[in-house]
Amino acid sequence: MELAALEKQLRTLQTESIAKIGAAETSAALDELGSSLLGKRGALTDLLRGIGALSAEDRPKIGAIANEVRAAIDAALSDRRGAAGAAELSALIAAESTDPTAPGPLPQLGSLHPIPETIAAIARIMASFGFTVAEGQEVEDDVTNFQLLNIPEDHPSRDLWDTLYLREPGRLLRTHTSPGQIRTMRAVQPPIRVILPGRCFRYEAVDASHGFEFHQVEGLLVDRGTTLADLKGILDELARGLFGPSTRTRFRPGYYPFTEPSVAVDVSWGGAKDGWMTILGAGMVHPIVLENGGIDPETHQGFAFGLGVERIAMLRHEIPDLRAFLENDLRMLRGLR
Ligand code: PHE
Repeated sequence: MELAALEKQLRTLQTESIAKIGAAETSAALDELGSSLLGKRGALTDLLRGIGALSAEDRPKIGAIANEVRAAIDAALSDRRGAAGAAELSALIAAESTDPTAPGPLPQLGSLHPIPETIAAIARIMASFGFTVAEGQEVEDDVTNFQLLNIPEDHPSRDLWDTLYLREPGRLLRTHTSPGQIRTMRAVQPPIRVILPGRCFRYEAVDASHGFEFHQVEGLLVDRGTTLADLKGILDELARGLFGPSTRTRFRPGYYPFTEPSVAVDVSWGGAKDGWMTILGAGMVHPIVLENGGIDPETHQGFAFGLGVERIAMLRHEIPDLRAFLENDLRMLRGLR
């Protein structure tokens, strides 16, 4: 083999190799090129097999050229490896890294159901007038639910409450929170300022605005010199606290056997939905009821009111159907947050 021919082959290998290396995209491809060009069975070693045929004088020359070719290919490989490695690293970082400025995943927060939320709002407002919270009992007796509230047996006013009676004679599910008035008056001395929230039951056909179980908040104040004006003032403040400062109230004459006089109270809070909604019944505690509670009507007067919690929650949260309160549909509950 001629020195010149072998030299030419070596130089061709150099140029072709450098072109291939320049086109390689990944470090894996470069590793493969490295061993197919410079490895033990690589192209360079292959060419140098012909070296034995050269004269002793030419061998070192070819050896020197071969070293140059190897060095040039090596340099091209490591250049290209540097570039490919950097690109791969930044791709890896982009794929795996987190963005420290991105908002973190929020923990799931719970929220109150609209009924206890509304009761809590009422309790907060009433607390500012010195009312504390107590509870009556859901299973009542006929005497406390009706008779002591001036609703005699067989009196037609009982038709106001469609009652769920229990098998045990004289026992029923309370139809309103008003029996709590009697229990409170018998347990505490005046002055009394208390609210009694709780679940009530009536034998009713269920529709969008009536349930057979629902919630009321009873309010009771007993003191000396209490008048209807006190009732009106506090209920006005309660309505404004619940529905906003521009809320208007309307007091209409009403009828309840346990209050005299009695009123029905409507609210209108202007805004988009105009009109009036009755949210509570109220009145001055009937002297007979005060006596049944062990309080002298000559020295003390009182007022009482009973609020429908579902109706207030419907207005506050714009829920059109009170059956939604019992369905535990999380979409409804989440929407209220
Ligand atoms: N208990 C009455 C009802 O269920 C509401 C009420 C409470 C009215 C207190 C007057 C006084 O409708």
